[in-house]
Amino acid sequence: MANSSKISKVLRFVQQLVKTDNPLISRPEFEQHISQITHLISSVQKEDVNFHASSISKRAPVTFINIYDDELTLSASIFALQDGSFLPTHDHPHMYGFIKCIYGTLKITSYSPVNQSSVSSQSIPTSASKEPDVYLTDTSQDVAVLMPDKGNVHSIAAIDGPGAFIDFLIPPYAFRDNCCHYFSVDGNDSSKGLYTLHEVDCPSSYWCATVPYTGPQL
Ligand SMILES: [Fe+2]
Repeated sequence: MANSSKISKVLRFVQQLVKTDNPLISRPEFEQHISQITHLISSVQKEDVNFHASSISKRAPVTFINIYDDELTLSASIFALQDGSFLPTHDHPHMYGFIKCIYGTLKITSYSPVNQSSVSSQSIPTSASKEPDVYLTDTSQDVAVLMPDKGNVHSIAAIDGPGAFIDFLIPPYAFRDNCCHYFSVDGNDSSKGLYTLHEVDCPSSYWCATVPYTGPQL
């Protein structure tokens, strides 16, 4: 019998949509499902993935829990941040990201490169506009959506205590052996609404402790 937990249903449903309208084949067809995916994800809470504050590592700034990933459709992971910790500015090239807070409060800061052709070759500085900051809490059903060409470069910080979120990425990194890049942000042109992104190595202050997923079987 198919697993009937909420997280299992959400993953199966999204998987089916991506199989039908793969974003790498047709973005317009996939994007007509974004509000449906967002609605589905909006109801996911920490109980649905058996997340507890005690899962947050005391020694690492960020705790990583892989819920699910495949090579074709999506990945879903929990990132749990100690008080004051953050995921440094990074991208998910050519991917869609859906962020659902399941614990505490998070602030998401994101940028959109002005010249989209530079998105996959960020070894040169890239000019970017800043998107409005987004605050997510575990008491709201809000979901932050990152598009391939809008808000894709982002950082996520825990505000006023530890925080945790589920990161749904479509398609997953394994598809096309994709990988993310890290950036420093230069705000010298911020008076014009433009910032400059410089690709940097992954900051040494950012590292994860990996903890096994203990939620419902998928
Ligand atoms: Fe991210």
